[in-house]
Amino acid sequence: MVKKFIPVSEPNLKKKELDYVVDTIKSTWISSKGKYIDKFEKMFAEYIGVNYAISVSNGTVALHLALLALNIGPGDEVIVPNLTYIATANSVAYVGATPVFADSEKDTWDIDPKSIERLITKKTKAIIPVHLYGNPCNMNAIIKIAKANNLFVIEDAAEAIGSEYFGQKTGSFGDISTFSFYGNKTITTGEGGMVVTNDREIANKLGILKGQGMNPNKRYWFDIIGYNYRMTNIQAAIGCAQMERVDELVEAKRNIAKLYNKYFMDIPGITLPVEKNHTINTYWMYSIILDNYCREGREKLRKELEKSEIETRPFFYLLTEMPPYNGHKSDGCKIAKLLADKGLNLPSSTLLKEEEIEYICGKVKKCLKEL
Ligand SMILES: Cc1ncc(COP(=O)(O)O)c(C=O)c1O
Repeated sequence: MVKKFIPVSEPNLKKKELDYVVDTIKSTWISSKGKYIDKFEKMFAEYIGVNYAISVSNGTVALHLALLALNIGPGDEVIVPNLTYIATANSVAYVGATPVFADSEKDTWDIDPKSIERLITKKTKAIIPVHLYGNPCNMNAIIKIAKANNLFVIEDAAEAIGSEYFGQKTGSFGDISTFSFYGNKTITTGEGGMVVTNDREIANKLGILKGQGMNPNKRYWFDIIGYNYRMTNIQAAIGCAQMERVDELVEAKRNIAKLYNKYFMDIPGITLPVEKNHTINTYWMYSIILDNYCREGREKLRKELEKSEIETRPFFYLLTEMPPYNGHKSDGCKIAKLLADKGLNLPSSTLLKEEEIEYICGKVKKCLKEL
């Protein structure tokens, strides 16, 4: 039976998550120390295939810390995709650096390496590729550009837990990479994030920065101005339970995409997400491009679907369209603009059932015919 309201996403929490949370409360270790913090960080580092994972309070501060740890600040430029969640660019603004906005690839919807090259100046210090909606970026090209121009790479892997590029997990390529565990993410801790790196010095610096700058060898002595960006043991307890189920959750996302692809097969006027041969796309948001629609048409379609209790999301607006970044330097971003106007995120919860996906696809097809 198809349930009444179908949300875009919902957390997938089971008894294990509940048991671990109850354990933290019984133990009274509910703040940012406790066994689940260490365990979650260890499990996460192992899963991604990196040396160090540092838990933080969300994916935005994870990006902020990454930029701070690489000493990026005023006078520096950082290249980010124009089509992404605003946190990617905001973190650059937090450190006083300037975000510069690159165009997208037409097929993967990710940052276009050719556009990155066009934006590099003497001031450029880093690139932040975002694996949009779970689809891995062209990391070989991005790393090549970064090496040739002496730039850092910070992977924003908030939406791509479990995705792979040439057999390697996204988040294991950057000098530093970041993740988000917000309630709509593939694994969640409510709010939460992780910063990962292979570099011990960077890992130590991240640990100090997230704990108010306290000297690790001298309690209550502060060498620098740091932040309180710590995750709680309660959040980490949920994280541990989610990590024990991460393969199941990633598989569920991929299965949902398979079913959507099946029911959307041969429908003219929509472009389905791609999965390149050398990648694993984890389809954080199963998304389609409405080839013949503009922004207004897409909104009409969304309204129609809403009448059938199907929640959808438009693609992100271009960051340079909105007040904080309007007029900022960008690469034209024609492809990103097309995607932003025509892209639609469909319900992608790991709890979706096949009959719900069939129902959603049926409604989309019907609306496309009628509108
Ligand atoms: C690409 C990207 N970067 C960063 C973030 C920020 O994560 P959080 O919401 O945990 O701060 C998100 C969250 O949605 C995201 O999608």
